[in-house]
Amino acid sequence: MIVCVCRRVSDQNIRKAVAEGAESFEELQLELGVAMQCGRCADCVCAVLTEARALQRAARSSAGAVLPAAEHEREAETV
Ligand code: FES
Repeated sequence: MIVCVCRRVSDQNIRKAVAEGAESFEELQLELGVAMQCGRCADCVCAVLTEARALQRAARSSAGAVLPAAEHEREAETV
């Protein structure tokens, strides 16, 4: 869905930017140009940012639980 009509930025664009390291509303403004014209998208941008960061944290937590096992498997393959 288009979040910022003025700059034609979608929720997927925002999620991708977060996945690539954007951590704040200001970073999204600089990177994507959201909320830089009329500003009507600001609340929706913040909501997508919050959701994307929460999903990213959850994914990192899951990966953290899996990583030690994966490292163990790699070590076993090299032996
Ligand atoms: S809708 Fe995003 S700046 Fe206008």
